[in-house]
Amino acid sequence: MHYTCTMLILAIETSCDETAVALVEEKRGGFFVIDEYVSSQTKTHAPFGGVVPNLAARDHLKNLPLLLKKIIAKNKIKRNNIDLIAVTEGPGLIPALLIGTNAAKAIAYAWKKPLVGVHHIAGHIYANFIHLVKSPTSRQGAALPQFNRVKFPILALIVSGGHTELIFMKKHMDFKIVGQTLDDAAGEAFDKVAKILELGYPGGPIVSRLAELYQSSTFPSQQRSCRDSSKSNFSLPRPMINSNNLNFSFSGLKTAVLYTIRDNPKTLKSKKLTSELCAEFQQAAIDVLVSKTIRAAKKYKPKTILLGGGVSANKELRRQLGEIIKKQIPDTRYQIPDTKYSLDNAAMIAVAGYHKWKFSKNRKPFYNNWRTFEADANLKLN
Ligand code: KG4
Ligand code: ZN
Repeated sequence: MHYTCTMLILAIETSCDETAVALVEEKRGGFFVIDEYVSSQTKTHAPFGGVVPNLAARDHLKNLPLLLKKIIAKNKIKRNNIDLIAVTEGPGLIPALLIGTNAAKAIAYAWKKPLVGVHHIAGHIYANFIHLVKSPTSRQGAALPQFNRVKFPILALIVSGGHTELIFMKKHMDFKIVGQTLDDAAGEAFDKVAKILELGYPGGPIVSRLAELYQSSTFPSQQRSCRDSSKSNFSLPRPMINSNNLNFSFSGLKTAVLYTIRDNPKTLKSKKLTSELCAEFQQAAIDVLVSKTIRAAKKYKPKTILLGGGVSANKELRRQLGEIIKKQIPDTRYQIPDTKYSLDNAAMIAVAGYHKWKFSKNRKPFYNNWRTFEADANLKLN
């Protein structure tokens, strides 16, 4: 597929606890972030140990106009510069989604621009299409190369606070969910385990930091996979790892951590033991995620495996999945987003929004979308 004209996309993301705006340029199939801002609400929700929807909405309402004002002023955006408005349509917390979608509708109405609603998970997949360099300029009129680089078919493992899905894509915007969690999402399990271990919120970064601490102090020159499990204090299950399908389950793993603490309450008093338990929990989650991804890859034979979603910021998951792909299916490309784009951001919404617009047979409705467009907390991917 060839991309021709350049487009400038203004995007908004407010599905959960990050208020984010981005200005992204599409140039010959490459996606270059001109500017972006993310305002995190961690401090607001930390005392509650999880995201409180109405407090999230209140923070979005306060922060979104400030971020929009900043990105518009700093980049001297005029209505004529912008080609497309993209916004997260769902899934997510409805009070939070409504702030972003209503702002996007207002801008689309005022500037008479097409407005595209984006599925949050499509955003996490398309985070892998963001280029990490400055937008290139053509010298002396020479043609720029095509920048599109991800080869189809794609298998995407999306792991976030609300989702754990294996998605197969034969082409752009064509999503087939081939595996998913039957209960908790992977990120939710990290967050709940952190709560059980009284470590604070959000759990993923804290649990992974402690796991790394344990790893580096106990096996300074070894990888965790080389450890001697007979010497370890904890042994957690790898739920559904041998099941003959591509689904996941993380609620039993979380409960196993709860029972471990109930039976060994002293663990909480020891940083070393808590770190070891974090490491064992993280490894159990990674073992299942990696094993199911490889199983799916052997079945669907993608050219590229992508990782995305907040949990894809996890260093060990990134490293171990890459290693196993190299060993077991070396012809498959492995693509991970920059850590910054693993977490919620608006640049990924711009890129997914661009593709939705580009591959829509009928673009007309996008021009009047401000009339009818609604956020959908339970939006389906297809
Ligand atoms: O994609 P995301 O920012 O928001 C949702 O769409 O849910 O993902 C947030 C999730 C949280 O559960 C957080 O604990 C988890 O991603 N997370 C991590 C790491 N960083 C964030 N999980 C494991 N390891 C990390 N380093
Ligand atoms: Zn997300």
